[in-house]
Amino acid sequence: MTQTGRPQERLIETYRKKAKHYDVTSRLYPAPGYPQRAQRIQAVRALGLRPGDTVIDMACGTGLNFRLLEKVVGPGGRIVGVDLTDAMLARAQDRVKTNGWSNISLVQADAAAFDFPAGVDAILSTYALTQVPECAQVIAHGAKALAVDGRWAVLDLKVPGNTPRWIAQFGTAIVRPFASIEEWTMRRPWDAIRVAMAEELADFCWTELSFGTAFLAAGSRGQP
Ligand SMILES: C[S@@+](CC[C@H](N)C(=O)[O-])C[C@H]1O[C@@H](n2cnc3c(N)ncnc32)[C@H](O)[C@@H]1O
Repeated sequence: MTQTGRPQERLIETYRKKAKHYDVTSRLYPAPGYPQRAQRIQAVRALGLRPGDTVIDMACGTGLNFRLLEKVVGPGGRIVGVDLTDAMLARAQDRVKTNGWSNISLVQADAAAFDFPAGVDAILSTYALTQVPECAQVIAHGAKALAVDGRWAVLDLKVPGNTPRWIAQFGTAIVRPFASIEEWTMRRPWDAIRVAMAEELADFCWTELSFGTAFLAAGSRGQP
């Protein structure tokens, strides 16, 4: 299924080039030894998933979260991976096939145009949402689609507070090759994500990770 709402050719081209080796090279981001797996585990925990739940992995890439999600939702649950880049989804599809997961479906779509299915139990996005200019809109759309008490969790990189500008630029250079680093640093998309989640979700929680180089933001739709 395809739901690509508008051309983002440059970003797609970048991730087409990265897709083949993404699973290996991403382990070095933003630096070798960075606790990415521990952060992913923390993000999945923040979803409070139960067996049988339906979860959306927004901008899922090659599906590095799938095993962690499968572990909690089990074969009776459902995972929907959404991504803009066909080549990343092709790797995700390989992963699904190799592992024999029959409860994962993949959708090619722009997060900003994605039509979230109503009543999902959880939405996760890891290391991706700060790349989406309409991130606040994506959070709002997702929040409206959540079931009562459904949860949203966003894990992504950020620039730590009080970081000299040249260090911030160096640190983000390797993870933001498709856009102007200057623009990403200045735009501070994590602030927009924080504000949108605080507005849209109940019991919103913001946690800075790894000396402020990443954040985990989570909350639930709450009772009507
Ligand atoms: C750094 S990768 C992260 C992939 C995965 N979430 C992970 O944790 O490994 C960023 C992903 O976001 C996707 N992406 C970027 N902008 C997007 C958008 N507007 N809509 C959907 N996916 C997008 C890219 O195609 C890429 O697969």
